[in-house]
Amino acid sequence: MAEQLERSRARTVQLTDAVDTDDLVKQHSKLMSPLVWDYAHIANQEELWLVRDVGGREPLRQDIDELYDAFQHARADRPALPLLGPSETRAYVTEVRDKVLDVLDHVTFDPGRELVDNAFAFGMIAQHEQQHDETMLATHQLRAGAPVLDAPAPPAGRQLPAEVFIPGGVFEMGTSIEPWALDNERPAHPVQVAPYVIDTAPVTNGDYLRFVLAGGYDDPRWWSEAGWAHVRKASLVAPRFWSEADGQWWRLRFGHQEQLPLDEPVMHVCFYEAEAYAKWAGKRLPTEAEWEFAARFDPVSGRTRRFPWGDDSPGPQHANLGQRHLRPAPAGAYPAGASPLGVEQLIGDVWEWTSSDFRPYPGFRAWPYDEYSLVFFGPDYKVLRGGSFGTDEVIARGTFRNWDYPIRRQIFAGFRCARDPRPEELPGAGSTGGLA
Ligand SMILES: [Fe+2]
Repeated sequence: MAEQLERSRARTVQLTDAVDTDDLVKQHSKLMSPLVWDYAHIANQEELWLVRDVGGREPLRQDIDELYDAFQHARADRPALPLLGPSETRAYVTEVRDKVLDVLDHVTFDPGRELVDNAFAFGMIAQHEQQHDETMLATHQLRAGAPVLDAPAPPAGRQLPAEVFIPGGVFEMGTSIEPWALDNERPAHPVQVAPYVIDTAPVTNGDYLRFVLAGGYDDPRWWSEAGWAHVRKASLVAPRFWSEADGQWWRLRFGHQEQLPLDEPVMHVCFYEAEAYAKWAGKRLPTEAEWEFAARFDPVSGRTRRFPWGDDSPGPQHANLGQRHLRPAPAGAYPAGASPLGVEQLIGDVWEWTSSDFRPYPGFRAWPYDEYSLVFFGPDYKVLRGGSFGTDEVIARGTFRNWDYPIRRQIFAGFRCARDPRPEELPGAGSTGGLA
């Protein structure tokens, strides 16, 4: 447990030490908090849950709770608050962690106390820090100025069949046994999925560029009513961070201007753009259940796995996670991460927009607090699945659910398409398995 906490802290320190004091306290985008807010908020949540609640210790800084309560202040308003400065923040963060390690030395993981059973509260706090690390990574992407982050390139891609036929059936969606699964992933429940066809890998920049060049952003036929209204109002013409000069397309990546890599998954598109591309391509977005069936169902055993590749935690051979590469990997880069049905790169690389609204599963129980999921359920948010290159392995479970507004583009999100099978593709008509 201490190792998990240390791993997330090393990442937080890397992301905050990479920039100077000015960059720490300033707001790089109205959509984001100043990095120094995230930093102290991470420690404040750790203090609330682990020092005060689990440990039953005296508060360290009750006076700042309100400043770092995400529900009290919108991101846009956070720079104006009397926040702790960078050195005060670092001192507070260290003080909290020292107390937490002491709590950890004395705690008994009593199965009768739900908050500490399976070390849940510690797992929740490690995940919370990693989630904010991904948010801070998105802030780095929005930051202007010279590059400050670097990482090696991901593995090379390979040629893949474009689509995979999925026979459908009943599978177990969600989980009741994953020890650190959050409330919205629970409980496990049977879901019936009709046969469908899904892209083997996420849609690439090269695929998406064809939609852009075909005038996709100027043609209302491909857009939903809400999507068309948004694309006009926001004057969208291409994914965020793309630019064009003299017929050459570029993308900005953590301060580096690079030629658009055609074989990488497209990223920084909103739900409406994903939906419009899919329609243009004669397809649609997968539902959340279709995504999870493709990722977790093993047709041989009839069992639902933890991950596409099995039950083992992700290794570097399985998926592009944890900021290891600072960009999504080209299509076909992770053959060892394929699901039993032959679908690839479901975990890591880019979050994938699904067509589903964020809704509770049957039997949902808000826990350990309503503000984690309950207050977000409804038609305003779309579900994203699978995690990105910036998501840590402690989060990127096959059951993990992310959600955001359909207009958001600053997150590391792309998508893959699905479609209903043609009659000749259905079992009995011949073809099953990979479709070239
Ligand atoms: Fe938070």
